[in-house]
Amino acid sequence: MNLKSILAVMLFVASFNVAKAGGDDEGMWLPVLLSQNNYNDMVKHGLKMTPEQLYSVNKSSMKDAVVWFGGGCTGEVVSNQGLLITNHHCGYDAIASLSTEKYNYLHDGFWALNKESELHAEDLSVQFLVSMTDVTKEVMEKLKDIPYEKWQSSLPGITGPMVKAATKDTHYEGFVREMFKGNQFYLFVMEKFTDIRLVGTATESIGKYGGDTDNWMWPRHTGDFSMFRIYAGKDNKPAPYSKDNVPYKPKHSFPISIKGLQENDFSMVMGFPGRTNRYETSMGVQLAIDETNPSIVKLRDKRLQLMKQEMDKNVGIRLQQASRYAQIANYWKYFIGQTEQLKKNKVWDRKKSEEATFTGWASGKEEYQNIFPNLEKAYKDYRPYNKHGVYLREGVLGAPLLSFGAAFLDLEKLLMKDTMDEKALENAIKGIRFRQGFFEKIYNPTIDQNIAGAILAYFANDIDKAQHPAYMATILKSKGKTTEEKCAAYAKMVYAKTFLLDTAKLSAFLNMKDHKKQLKQLQKDIAIQCALAFLKNYNDNYKKYADAFGLAVAKEGKAYVKGLMEMSPARKFYPDANSTMRLTYGNVKSYDPKDAVHYTYYTTLKGVMEKEDPSNEEFEVPAKLKELYLAKDFGQYTDKDGQVPVAFITNNDITGGNSGSPVINANGELIGAAFDGNWEAMSGDISFDEQLKRTICVDIRYVLFLVEKMGGAKNLIAEMDIRK
Ligand code: ARG
Repeated sequence: MNLKSILAVMLFVASFNVAKAGGDDEGMWLPVLLSQNNYNDMVKHGLKMTPEQLYSVNKSSMKDAVVWFGGGCTGEVVSNQGLLITNHHCGYDAIASLSTEKYNYLHDGFWALNKESELHAEDLSVQFLVSMTDVTKEVMEKLKDIPYEKWQSSLPGITGPMVKAATKDTHYEGFVREMFKGNQFYLFVMEKFTDIRLVGTATESIGKYGGDTDNWMWPRHTGDFSMFRIYAGKDNKPAPYSKDNVPYKPKHSFPISIKGLQENDFSMVMGFPGRTNRYETSMGVQLAIDETNPSIVKLRDKRLQLMKQEMDKNVGIRLQQASRYAQIANYWKYFIGQTEQLKKNKVWDRKKSEEATFTGWASGKEEYQNIFPNLEKAYKDYRPYNKHGVYLREGVLGAPLLSFGAAFLDLEKLLMKDTMDEKALENAIKGIRFRQGFFEKIYNPTIDQNIAGAILAYFANDIDKAQHPAYMATILKSKGKTTEEKCAAYAKMVYAKTFLLDTAKLSAFLNMKDHKKQLKQLQKDIAIQCALAFLKNYNDNYKKYADAFGLAVAKEGKAYVKGLMEMSPARKFYPDANSTMRLTYGNVKSYDPKDAVHYTYYTTLKGVMEKEDPSNEEFEVPAKLKELYLAKDFGQYTDKDGQVPVAFITNNDITGGNSGSPVINANGELIGAAFDGNWEAMSGDISFDEQLKRTICVDIRYVLFLVEKMGGAKNLIAEMDIRK
């Protein structure tokens, strides 16, 4: 799953991240602590490698073949020439961006039969983890006299110099991340490559087979993979894109096993999980179920419907909107599933009982006894404003033009000052230009105008009138009988009148030297006016409640984790996911989703054929794949029954951001790429369910079968180390 969209959503989903002690297969472990925390247990599960082969700073190890892909996914190196595998949905944006109506790689697939044909994917980068170091002592020493309220603003000043020292005289980048809700801190050093090229992808009908219908579900028949290559300068170091760059020589690349797998085989996944909230409280669960999730789903539902309507009309629109549509749809379904399973899996009750135990233990302990009373008050104070925040971010700012209009907030502020700060103005304009680029990429007049009209009406109807911006009255003065009609008429006028859609006018505006005139034009524009009315109303009157809530939840959350660790000193804790490298281990495992139903651990090409429905674009099977199937032209990629395996499941503990992660057997060989979670465990980011939670992986044999038989890319097969 793509992390950009997850983060945008998670940032305001009321919740907090706390660590949980690992159950049997639960746990997103920090690689640097494996030998100390998990190694013996991993061996018990079947691992046949040494701790140094998994993670080492000085010698090459598994971690040197795992990349943070595009800032929201994971990828793995599978040859000594920098060849990468990730998911199709991770390469999706790059593939769609490289596609045209004439060369529609998204629809038709793409295979580079030599390096010269590989396509540079702009804006795509990958990062290797060089090292991670516990810097808790150092950071805490500097934080000890700073009140918690000031931590967030003080941290950059503290960690900045540490990062600088750690990356001195290198081309590396670094950052410090808090773990265990700010009870620990780790410094990460990364190496970032920016010349990344598309090598191959199956057709969308294979890479996204089953579409949104099958998304987040098992049994699955999706060939969710795509291939890229990392290029470096002649010195093997990162270099900006250039024809003269050469394939990167990695420190380690994964050998690939096509020996096949069986139930209970050892499996591990190394990657960059984005976010979990495993120690969310019962109050957070309640708010998500009652209000936050249904609000997100309602707003996304509408946006998707309005997008789809236009996308179905024309290939150009479809290509332009495809990636954004997929992102919105992915988390639309995620929140439907999460709500359903939070209820079904009784997560609220589970949390309540954990909290009762904790409260009993904490009684009389000054540091801990007020956590839950404080949280209760924080939730109570915040509750009346929660929905407003969701509707602002997912609604108003979900309308592309209004979102772009909101980008003028800083500029207006600066222009209203008595003296002009030219440097700050320059930065504000730069920010606007950046947002303009994004806006122009996704802009479609009909879709945008329809979305704006629809979400303004939702806001008018669903948000407490006392919280509306005064400007709502202007909107509702528009022609029409119903609120919907009025908002639609208003949106139409906005699109007709704004200068933001006129590139020449916009460019002239951004270059204006007369700042008085500039301010006047800015304030006169109706799209900016509308966007800023909602934004300022929120910022000036309601943001303070969200901030106070966020701070209370973070502060009490930190105390809660600390208390939990103190309460159970023998338990092994792992920090919540935060886009840093983790390892999860367990086994290949089937499951029983409900009474009388058993799901085996793998699917095959036969199932792809069974699901085929030529009348439904989500279940179209390419003719060539059918031919191969009927001719049983499977090459060396069959299982013991002569079938081509497609996907399999493990009980590994992953989340969004892990998409594309290597799934690795006991010997360190690649057996698949993780690409999804399962429906029955959609509550998993908040509570891990041992019985139900599974990781869905595309089988590496399906990947290789498609590369060789559908793509004809023998060149790629030849460069990989395939073990039979
Ligand atoms: N649910 C998957 C994830 O978040 C993404 C699947 C993309 N495929 C799709 N049909 N939308 O990792």
